[in-house]
Amino acid sequence: MTESPTPPNAGGAEALRERALTALLTARERTTLLTDSVDDHELTAQHSPLMSPLVWDLAHIGNQEELWLLRGVAGREAMRPEIDGLYDAFEHPRATRPSLPLLAPAEARSYASEVRGRALDVLESTPLDGGASLVRSGFAFGMIAQHEQQHDETMLITHQLRSGPVALTAPEPPPAVDVPALPTEVLVPGGPFTMGTSTEPWALDNERPAHRRDVPGFCIDTAPVTCGAYRAFIEDGGYGERRWWAPEGWAMVREHELGAPLFWHRDAGQWLRRRFGVTEPVPDDEPVLHVSWYEADAYARWAGRRLPTEAEWEKAARHDPASGRSRRYPWGDEDPTPERANLGQRHLRPAPAGAYPAGRAPCGAGQLIGDVWEWTASDFLPYPGFAPFPYREYSEVFFGPEHKVLRGGSFAVDTVACRGTFRNWDLPVRRQVFAGFRTARDL
Ligand code: AVJ
Ligand code: FE
Repeated sequence: MTESPTPPNAGGAEALRERALTALLTARERTTLLTDSVDDHELTAQHSPLMSPLVWDLAHIGNQEELWLLRGVAGREAMRPEIDGLYDAFEHPRATRPSLPLLAPAEARSYASEVRGRALDVLESTPLDGGASLVRSGFAFGMIAQHEQQHDETMLITHQLRSGPVALTAPEPPPAVDVPALPTEVLVPGGPFTMGTSTEPWALDNERPAHRRDVPGFCIDTAPVTCGAYRAFIEDGGYGERRWWAPEGWAMVREHELGAPLFWHRDAGQWLRRRFGVTEPVPDDEPVLHVSWYEADAYARWAGRRLPTEAEWEKAARHDPASGRSRRYPWGDEDPTPERANLGQRHLRPAPAGAYPAGRAPCGAGQLIGDVWEWTASDFLPYPGFAPFPYREYSEVFFGPEHKVLRGGSFAVDTVACRGTFRNWDLPVRRQVFAGFRTARDL
């Protein structure tokens, strides 16, 4: 299969151990910021029925780490067997979590940090070359760092949903570059490419294995659809015209009387939005956020276009026509940097369309990684040869037509949980996710 050779493996087991240590420490720093920036009352409150109380995420992070690194890798006894059920995401839906006898904030903090102390000892003493598949190349440690970062993004969504004084601030993202010279769309010629991965050491089960996909030629937007472009859809009466909407999308619009992205409202003829506790004018040049799959789908139809399939998105992001190989990222195989992509909650918003010229793909499309998750046309399905690993409940139980795939990662995704192959998924009605989209068309 034609994938780029994978640099993280190049340094061998010691480099991977170092990488795992950094990834775990980076995740915990972010978890601490997200949970120390509000008081105990806000930590235990439910800010939205869609989300858990922040204190649930905190102890769940610790509990998953205990399950996989202490009990799984090191074969230790359960530290607090009585709490496992409370933090099993399948036993209790989010809306019911506030009524559970959860660990109080101080207990949750000390549980997570006690687990972490022991997990670092396990990391230090576990051989990462060869061995059982759970620890080979440090997979279990990488998986747990990714798990924590995914919950950190979930907690950032909870922060966005909460009302009350501002708790988080961050510097502004970089400006766009040479926007007038940018084409609005780029061509990706037809032909096969390698989708998914069999070499990326910490890729999750749903990204595997690498396989060839034939993708007919298509055109795709150079940048995600902006708030300004989306406003034109609103102002053209897009939310009032049934013909743009999938039937279930139209039902959603009518039932909830939707007329704009989540967090937007109109005031004296101006569109405003609420972002992490601040109300501000909607910026025309920024990728639109907080739209459901149904809204993305309707916008694309209104624009005479369509959402890209997941395979088209990945081909635009990874295929290098010069070598015929698939890259780890649009810009090449090197890790993300602040010059290449808006990741890691360094900023609390997407950068304007046309930012990050150093992050563009060979086809010319930009901002594929970072800024906003991008809805694709595709259902979340296994690749040919998929095998659940290490547990069915990560991916397999979610496969099917009810979930749509999101690609690319938002400003709230950490580099450890972001790759050209990374797959996210959600229900097509969900709007709280940091998701936007770009459009495509057949040739
Ligand atoms: C991959 C983001 C859909 O948060 O539901 C966290 C990740 N899985 N804990 C989610 C996940 C288990 C998952 N998503
Ligand atoms: Fe989880």
